[in-house]
Amino acid sequence: MSIFHRSLLDVDSLTPENIELLFHRAHQFSTRGYPEMKFTSTRPLVALLFFEPSTRTRFSFKIAAKRLRFSTVVLDDLASTSMRKGETLADTVLNVEAMGTDALIIRYGEDTELTDLLPKLKTPVISAGQGKISHPTQALLDAFTIRQELGQMKGQKVLIVGDVAHSRVAASNIKLLTRLGAQVGIAGPENLLQLPQSLSTNVEVFDLDDGMRWASVVMALRIQLERFETGLKDAVKPHQYAERYGINPKRLEAFSARGLILHPGPVNQNVELDSAVFADPRCRILQQVSNGVFMRAALLYETLIADRMVLDA
Ligand code: CP
Repeated sequence: MSIFHRSLLDVDSLTPENIELLFHRAHQFSTRGYPEMKFTSTRPLVALLFFEPSTRTRFSFKIAAKRLRFSTVVLDDLASTSMRKGETLADTVLNVEAMGTDALIIRYGEDTELTDLLPKLKTPVISAGQGKISHPTQALLDAFTIRQELGQMKGQKVLIVGDVAHSRVAASNIKLLTRLGAQVGIAGPENLLQLPQSLSTNVEVFDLDDGMRWASVVMALRIQLERFETGLKDAVKPHQYAERYGINPKRLEAFSARGLILHPGPVNQNVELDSAVFADPRCRILQQVSNGVFMRAALLYETLIADRMVLDA
């Protein structure tokens, strides 16, 4: 029975051994391909429940499941569900589980409820991003990309730029990267840098240009207008943001020649990232996306592999 046969809502619940195992497995999948799997009974069934839009996370979990020969069902068109008739999210998840799922991959926009739901579920839940609070698989794939490219995490200086306050990616990354020995800095408009104390104590706030000189990795974040309160929306104008905080070729002149440029996506082109940055040899944004499949396959494999599955050699 897999040691992972349980839920993953954020990176806190992962032990150092779990993290190393996921890195090892993702590396194996990326370099040697996926294992040939034979199933002694029915294939594991993974339900993807996306209560918020997604391209990368939704597709990479689905592709990862396909690579492992798991079956998937997807609920992402909320207008076609009985939530339109007033059914709650919790009841929707419980009903899908009652149909016989082996794992639930859930993306959810609010900051609560998923945690409350967990004790009522028998199958593992993997968060595909929850509110502003967590996006554990994004942090894992980001850390994997940094290690893959720079060799080790210890001693890296990761500058997260932009809308840190609304970012579940930043929240999970601050926890994971600092645990793995990196230093994390943040830069951006002051009103987008607020963090809960549990996270802010682990980061240093930088002026952007100073931060660019300091960092070995720069991770730009999307301005998440959909999570802004009205007043804040009026205060952040995309063209002004691009000028003051956008990552562009001029700013990158101060950045390490061996550094990495990351972004979790989706990108607001020419807002947080100048479109020319995609051609910079330090840019690894699409590699993050490819690694998302390997890392999610690693997690599904470690979560669901059990004695009912037999692996070839
Ligand atoms: N990075 C990320 O979560 O992208 P999606 O919203 O497209 O899944």
